[in-house]
Amino acid sequence: MKVLVAYLSRTGNTRKVAEAIAGEIEVDKDVKKFNEIESLDAYNLAFIGFPIERFGPAKEAVQFLAMKAIGKKVALFITHAAPEELPHLATWMEKCRQAAMEAELLGVFNCRGDLARQVRESMLKSEDPQLRAWGEASKPMGSPDEARLERARAFAKEVLEKI
Ligand SMILES: Cc1cc2nc3c(=O)[nH]c(=O)nc-3n(C[C@H](O)[C@H](O)[C@H](O)COP(=O)(O)O)c2cc1C
Repeated sequence: MKVLVAYLSRTGNTRKVAEAIAGEIEVDKDVKKFNEIESLDAYNLAFIGFPIERFGPAKEAVQFLAMKAIGKKVALFITHAAPEELPHLATWMEKCRQAAMEAELLGVFNCRGDLARQVRESMLKSEDPQLRAWGEASKPMGSPDEARLERARAFAKEVLEKI
């Protein structure tokens, strides 16, 4: 059995979660960025991680899932700057599930990941009032913290037990 951990991470949050998940995989594994991956054919399972951007999955993630995940066993891990209890999150997660609708989806994990300082500053200057509001609301909390990484490890175990 071979497992892939594939991720897109601009400021390091999703990468931290990817590393936590990879740490739980005891079989043959690869950990790669999206742009290093040609195909998922060599893998029995792929954990696929990316950030929420503009209230849905990052564009590259939508493309990656549409082009590479068709018919494959996948589990998604997603980071976002919003608190986990934010009601909008359910809609964003649904968009992520939709992006993976052609795959065999074994699970979805999400957790908060701080907005990087430079991203927050650019959001505060955005023309888009929703993004400005986000910048204002997203104070750094040290996420993903150890408790969230531990939840990611538990998620990885649960998914691995399914195959
Ligand atoms: C252009 C852009 C748009 C974003 N939009 C959202 C958003 O709509 N909701 C949210 O909760 N976080 C949003 N974020 C924050 C990221 O999802 C969050 O910081 C994530 O953990 C970043 O992951 P990374 O460090 O792996 O790139 C946005 C970040 C960027 C750069």
